[in-house]
Amino acid sequence: MSRTLILVTGAQGQLGQSFQWIHKFGPKSSDLILLGRDKLDITQTDSIARALDQYKPTVLINAAAYTAVDKAESEPETAHLINGIAPGILAAACAERGIALIHVSTDYVFDGLASQPYAEDAPTCPASVYGQSKLAGEQAVLTALPSSIILRTSWVFSQFGNNFLKTMLRLGRERTELSIVDDQIGGPSYAPHIAQVLLQLAERLCESKQDTGKQQSPSGVYHFAGQPSVSWYGFAQEIFDQAVKLDLLAQAPTLTAISTNQYPTPAKRPAQSSLQQGRLDALLGAQAIERDWRRGIKQSLLALKQMR
Ligand SMILES: NC(=O)c1ccc[n+]([C@@H]2O[C@H](COP(=O)([O-])OP(=O)(O)OC[C@H]3O[C@@H](n4cnc5c(N)ncnc54)[C@H](OP(=O)(O)O)[C@@H]3O)[C@@H](O)[C@H]2O)c1
Repeated sequence: MSRTLILVTGAQGQLGQSFQWIHKFGPKSSDLILLGRDKLDITQTDSIARALDQYKPTVLINAAAYTAVDKAESEPETAHLINGIAPGILAAACAERGIALIHVSTDYVFDGLASQPYAEDAPTCPASVYGQSKLAGEQAVLTALPSSIILRTSWVFSQFGNNFLKTMLRLGRERTELSIVDDQIGGPSYAPHIAQVLLQLAERLCESKQDTGKQQSPSGVYHFAGQPSVSWYGFAQEIFDQAVKLDLLAQAPTLTAISTNQYPTPAKRPAQSSLQQGRLDALLGAQAIERDWRRGIKQSLLALKQMR
């Protein structure tokens, strides 16, 4: 099989940085190029064309996004431009050039009122500007390039960038008591686990391209989320337990479980946003997918310890 090239946008984000990190390990049948906003601005047609024509990737993975969920409530135009419109421009540019596209989306396309995990084809109903902008992006991608893959994920954390785990570690050093929301349930997803799944999907797309029509190429909406589902409170407890064991914290703060009403935020968040993942399991095989966020916490903490 000839080598293929995978191009990733949003290189400086936590998912973008995770690609670089995991690509160091294991056998590689693909080359990987990561481009930050300075090299590929997904809102700029010229910037997209230049990058795609220079690198000629087999697959493009769009990990670039506007992810400030609360700020989006007061910056809806910017959120919509980056999350809603730009992915459609990217998809059209890929369609013109015969490049396969994988676009990353979110559990926030759901309102969180369902009592069961959301299936890939469950009706969407975002409750925030961020969720609306990401849903518009999914629709724009599938309109411009219907063979694209949309991977929805949730509660992303890692040793990179800004995220809940790093906020908890900082607050754990500053305070002896913390109140954490216990009535929002979801799947914390370790960014390198997501990156791994995205590379597996990209390689599937490359294989089906080279197979000249023998295999049906995967397309449409897939879900990936860490397991088991947990509340923010439960997630925080595990972060502090492991941080103390690894000597990153002398002592865990005392945690108090509170309700969403006691912690008002500008953006409304889903109360239950666990995701069914049957389509991904059927495509890649459940055994081939790492989803345990507790192992992700350990890897994040070990990496942060090394960086100290
Ligand atoms: N974070 C979560 O909890 C979460 C949950 C569910 C789904 N997701 C999805 O997962 C994906 C990755 O998220 P993440 O956590 O890695 O986000 P992140 O850390 O905020 O990274 C996003 C990256 O996109 C870049 N970007 C923004 N506008 C751009 C533009 N116009 N052109 C090129 N790059 C641009 C940002 O660059 P700058 O630094 O220059 O702004 C940043 O490096 C996104 O699709 C997000 O919606 C995230």
